[in-house]
Amino acid sequence: MSSVVSVELRGDIALVEINNPPVNATGVAVRLGLLEAVAKAEAANAKAAIVYCAGRTFVAGGDISEFGKPPQEPHLPDVYQNIEDSSVPWVAATHGTTLGGGFELAMACDFRLAQTGTRFGLPEVNLGLVPGAGGSQRLPRLIGVEAAVELATTGQLIDAQQLFDLGGLDLVFEGDPVEAALEFVADLPTPLSGLSKRSPAPVADDFFASKRAEITKRAKGQTSPLDNLRAIEWAATLPFSQGQPKERALHLELRDSAQSKALRHAFFSERAVSKPKAMEGGAPLDITKIAVVGGGLMGAGIAFACLNAGYDVALIERDQDAANAGRERVEGLIAGGIKRGKISQDKAEKLKSSLIAADDYAACADADLAIEAVFEDLGVKQQVFQSLASHMREDAILATNTSYIDPTQIFEGITNPSRFIGLHFFSPAHIMKLLEIVQLPSTSKDVLATGFDLGKQLRKVGVLSGICDGFIGNRILSAYRRQADYLLMDGCTPKQIDDAMRGFGMPMGPYELQDLTGLQISWANRKRQAPTRAPDERYVRIGDLLCEAERFGQRSAKGWYKYVEGDRKPHEDGFVTNLIEQEAKAAGIERQLFTNQEIVDRLMAVMINEGALIVEEGIAERDLDVDLVKIHGYGFPRWRGGPMHYASEIGIDRVKAAMTDVAKQSPNSWRLAERLK
Ligand code: COA
Repeated sequence: MSSVVSVELRGDIALVEINNPPVNATGVAVRLGLLEAVAKAEAANAKAAIVYCAGRTFVAGGDISEFGKPPQEPHLPDVYQNIEDSSVPWVAATHGTTLGGGFELAMACDFRLAQTGTRFGLPEVNLGLVPGAGGSQRLPRLIGVEAAVELATTGQLIDAQQLFDLGGLDLVFEGDPVEAALEFVADLPTPLSGLSKRSPAPVADDFFASKRAEITKRAKGQTSPLDNLRAIEWAATLPFSQGQPKERALHLELRDSAQSKALRHAFFSERAVSKPKAMEGGAPLDITKIAVVGGGLMGAGIAFACLNAGYDVALIERDQDAANAGRERVEGLIAGGIKRGKISQDKAEKLKSSLIAADDYAACADADLAIEAVFEDLGVKQQVFQSLASHMREDAILATNTSYIDPTQIFEGITNPSRFIGLHFFSPAHIMKLLEIVQLPSTSKDVLATGFDLGKQLRKVGVLSGICDGFIGNRILSAYRRQADYLLMDGCTPKQIDDAMRGFGMPMGPYELQDLTGLQISWANRKRQAPTRAPDERYVRIGDLLCEAERFGQRSAKGWYKYVEGDRKPHEDGFVTNLIEQEAKAAGIERQLFTNQEIVDRLMAVMINEGALIVEEGIAERDLDVDLVKIHGYGFPRWRGGPMHYASEIGIDRVKAAMTDVAKQSPNSWRLAERLK
């Protein structure tokens, strides 16, 4: 008997338990065990077979770690067909997250029961795949084509009650799955024919065409949503016996696709990222109350995120008016949550009562952690920490949200350096997923672990970073922008560069993005970096000239583009094109044409080079840390897996070639990473 699937006969009922931690994925041992269970239940002439899972969840999917290898028999679709065709009625008693192969297993059964709160979905789309064991073919036959398209093309999860309302469940129960299922089979209804034998209800003639248009727009280059739509269209137009093999063939083909590999890399990286070596042996400290200093956009976003995760928050500002304004900002975010249906009225009241806004540091005396989010000025930040340290416990954690300033300077003169850390949030802080967790030389492992735990509670992706100018994310951003500016001088327009990067899959190009976030921040950064910039490094001053002309981006209706009032659409501006041409002429540059591919290759090469330097210098522990920073903080397309994964996908030689061109284009301006030499 399989070690991960056991069958126990209780009277005339076969109890089939899957016990394959951590998430009962349908690896080869589970598949073998289920086949044996079908035979066993039949041999015993059981009245019904109940399949359930040990541990925290019903089957949460196929075993993703097997996807890089050739498929091994028995194949999942065959196992599930055996279950559906068995003379014994099968009952799935689900709990936890019933996803992908788990949902497919439930659909192969005659009856589906779910514990309250169980969540269902076909997340294959998020891994660049279509289901591989009949999911796209059975789901439309179970809950209708429209609802199936919604689930399969978005990967969205629904809970047991929603699935029940769609007609996808026979029973939602409280309590133990086995007990509930035994009760259910005591009065077993007559099974309907298996889902593979049914036909889905027809949909409107133009349904698939209009969905295709809608999804193409939304997917921004990711192909799996359209693949899933295609698979469901097979279910709507072909018998199961034809649709299912097509689904399986597409699933296997997609396992080898670059997009699926990239998305799987992102999935496993997200799980590995929270276990850096530097933290080994550390354990998170208890945090109940958090002080947030600064009630601006960033501070309010952080405070709201912390409240929402269940912490008490003291918001500190320099005077009572500013504290009141900070409170109003947080309450505005709470109101926004209510409006979008994310926060109930009751919860809103609770959040408000967990917030204190004050101008007196005494309000944070009993806080376990303080996060400073004030103006980016060393002196101001130092003063904040002096005040915090004099009011808080000596072991309370002190965190700075600085984007550029060296945290060791910020904390100078404060006692107990093991409690210092950087927690770099991205704006808007309650929405953006990335949290750079900055380790100082003195930071203790427990404090690091607390940073990661906080990230998890806030539902963020925490990435460990060492100290350098801009940490991981902004340092790469600044290399990217520098190279984009070189391309501008040498022949491109902002629009051409933006179009090329959108074509690559970025939500925005570098110039539209600067117009959106404002040109002042990078201007200030360039001024700050000026004294340490190598004298022979190529410097493009177009961005500075735009700022001097008070073109700060969308907020001033002009920046790299011009804008008409009330509209965010960028329009090319002769002023900027002339300025670029003048600057190029003054520098004696003969402008040349670049193809979109050349633009992408060069911009990606500098991103990869900077990422490689960051790993070489030990600022990031691994390539995957760099990838997740770009994906979760900078809109890098997840389906490309991040810049470092992309490099391995296209091959390091191609990156080297592009980087050679880059270095030739702008001599003395780039330091090459070892692996690109
Ligand atoms: N195949 C192989 N391993 C899987 C897996 C799968 N389908 N799903 C999860 N795991 C592993 C994770 O890598 C992690 O391993 P680790 O502890 O060594 O890092 C472990 O199971 C726990 O997963 P984690 O995501 O950390 O736990 P969670 O409780 O936060 O979430 C799930 C559980 C099931 C919701 C989540 O893991 C998930 O969404 N899994 C993928 C589901 C999926 O896409 N299924 C379709 C596959 S075709």
